Amino acid sequence: MDRWSAAHLNMIETIDKASSAGRALADWASALPPHDSLARVERLTTAGPESMLVPYHSLGVCVAEIPDRLYPGLLEIVHAATWGGVPRIPDGGGGLVQSVAGLGASCVSPGQAAFMNTAHASQEIVSLVQAFAGVEVEPTEWYGPRIYHRGARLLRHCDRARSHVFGVTAYIESSDHQPWPIYFERDRDFLRISLRIGQMAIYEGVRLPHFRPTALDARFFAAAFLHYRPAHENPI
Ligand SMILES: [Fe+2]
Repeated sequence: MDRWSAAHLNMIETIDKASSAGRALADWASALPPHDSLARVERLTTAGPESMLVPYHSLGVCVAEIPDRLYPGLLEIVHAATWGGVPRIPDGGGGLVQSVAGLGASCVSPGQAAFMNTAHASQEIVSLVQAFAGVEVEPTEWYGPRIYHRGARLLRHCDRARSHVFGVTAYIESSDHQPWPIYFERDRDFLRISLRIGQMAIYEGVRLPHFRPTALDARFFAAAFLHYRPAHENPI
């Protein structure tokens, strides 16, 4: 299967910052309230750093399928963490999530760490990230799968500079199987991606601020996050 097919490129929608929708997104991002989790981020910015960093990829994001060998294991972890669509893992507060009613993102861990380590370092995903990045990469950190609750939003942020150069967000499961759009900010536009279950976005998380401004309209949404950095300074 062609991981870089036109169908996947068509999933990335461009929203010009000068448009009404673009201005609304910019207003939303600038009006965000403080959040405790922000203190944990090294590279939080109010203006995107895009123009200050050399891009690895012309667009900065792409969409691919979660590798067939890995998806069942990820789904099993999510199913083990939910009963009839109701998360049974206590709120772990993970992620840069603006929540309602005290509910944030629950981290499914640590019992599933072995599988997550395997997925993180798998050749299937590393190869996809390397094809996207154009350089050899090495795995750094992973999170989740995380369970997000109804009403959640992801605050606009950039990822950690040293370890999170390339990010993967994998949409594993949700209660209604609907997308929860994620937005990436560039100098002149926003890129909106509405992943389907079983798909993942690969992105330059340090260069492009990203957020989910739409409140989650589902009982739960489960995603895993894998991060990588260049293994060497020189392109392969
Ligand atoms: Fe992020």
